[in-house]
Amino acid sequence: MTMVYATNFLTASAADWQNAVEIGNRHYLASAGEAVLKLLKSQRDDTTQGWQVNNYQHSLQCASRALRQGEDEEFVVCALLHDVAQELDPFSHDKIAAQILKPFLGEINHWVIENHQVFQLRFRVNSQFDLAACEKYRGHPGFEKALYFCEHYDQNCFDPEYDHLPIETFEPLVRRMFSRVMEERLRGSAYRREFER
Ligand SMILES: [Fe+2]
Ligand SMILES: [Fe+2]
Repeated sequence: MTMVYATNFLTASAADWQNAVEIGNRHYLASAGEAVLKLLKSQRDDTTQGWQVNNYQHSLQCASRALRQGEDEEFVVCALLHDVAQELDPFSHDKIAAQILKPFLGEINHWVIENHQVFQLRFRVNSQFDLAACEKYRGHPGFEKALYFCEHYDQNCFDPEYDHLPIETFEPLVRRMFSRVMEERLRGSAYRREFER
């Protein structure tokens, strides 16, 4: 089997580097989307944060509602993965998810994910949270979509009775979206893409 025989960079031959690039390209294409799906699936049996569904069930509920509403594939994936980093850092999970998804999303959808925490506050009626916090973004081209996302595919997705679709429904969407972009990225020079981002 072709592989990289060197055990460190300094002694790697030209053939090793050629193999590293070719095998790496095949690996990244074949596994596109897998890491983020693994992260989501690892949360299947997590305890809840107090609500009657855990983050995994919330995510599936958000994505199911978006799919059933007829939203496009990219927006459904946004719904599925907007909270994937919740357990990594609850206070900036929107920024982390946005960074993971950045290459795969259009500008507005990326902005919606990146800022959904502050927009979600708008719906926390009867709480002491600042419901008007998102007003600082009024006028931004993503403002209305962020509110729409949080109203229809986030704040209402903590219902334990909701019959969400299984993760298997969404896996092909994520893989398709990630591999399409990965293919484009791999078309560029392997020797330049590490620093041309
Ligand atoms: Fe969130
Ligand atoms: Fe959420």
